[in-house]
Amino acid sequence: MEQAIDIRSPAQGRGAASAAILKTEQLSVQFGGLAALSQVNFEVARDEVRAIIGPNGAGKSTFFNCLTGVLRPTGGRILFNGDDITGLPSNKISQKGIARSYQITNILPNATALENVRIAAQSRRHAWNMVAHHSAFADINEKAEMALDSVGLLNKAGELAANLSHGQQRNLEIGIALATEPSLLCLDEPTAGMSAAETHETMQLVKRIGEKNLTILIVEHDMEVVMELADRITVLHYGAILAEGTPEEIQQNPKVLEVYLKT
Ligand SMILES: Nc1ncnc2c1ncn2[C@@H]1O[C@H](COP(=O)(O)OP(=O)(O)OP(=O)(O)O)[C@@H](O)[C@H]1O
Ligand SMILES: [Mg+2]
Repeated sequence: MEQAIDIRSPAQGRGAASAAILKTEQLSVQFGGLAALSQVNFEVARDEVRAIIGPNGAGKSTFFNCLTGVLRPTGGRILFNGDDITGLPSNKISQKGIARSYQITNILPNATALENVRIAAQSRRHAWNMVAHHSAFADINEKAEMALDSVGLLNKAGELAANLSHGQQRNLEIGIALATEPSLLCLDEPTAGMSAAETHETMQLVKRIGEKNLTILIVEHDMEVVMELADRITVLHYGAILAEGTPEEIQQNPKVLEVYLKT
């Protein structure tokens, strides 16, 4: 029998097995006279790691805010696993399996690292049920510990979040997002404010979690991080998609070089 030769890139190969996990159609956000997003048609394949880059104010965080229900778009649709989730509140979107970390660290400083992730693990699913209570509690603890472990903070479980280093706090935030067991994880500048060593560590961490059944969207300014992590890159500029492609394609795209990479 003839052997089929797979000439697809790894990202296409993974994505081709299933339809897009997330799709936006003509997604738009207007802040008064400012079009923060205009008619964005975006698609990401299941299990892909996609970087979203672009200059300050390009609309990257606004895009995440729409996907995660923090902001209601003024136009267009968001489809997640084929379901229209446009304008749903953030708790409903979290239950459907989208999680995010914030550009500015968003943790409970006076709770321990474990408590921070446990609250997130609890928030996903399950209405309160007396019968299931005990097993659910053990289950949630276990999930919380797994989430801490996957961001390398299990040995800090009992430490107050406020006492963690900046880099550890940022990783804790990723752990909080993971504790909700998402299938799509949106990371908004996870390495912001980190030292070179911390950045490297977080990059390894994101790579590791991206190997499990998880689609990752990552906003990142550090081009080295982006080029190494991403299967594909989307470039936003003034609220619109300027270019999309593999890291190699984006690095050579003249339009991208002009507005972004040159600076
Ligand atoms: N709540 C808001 N009200 C009014 N304008 C806003 C609001 N949020 C964002 N904007 C504006 O929308 C545009 C896009 O902002 P956004 O934060 O999405 O950019 P960004 O690409 O994440 O930038 P950065 O790289 O600096 O984080 C900017 O011009 C910003 O000033
Ligand atoms: Mg931003």
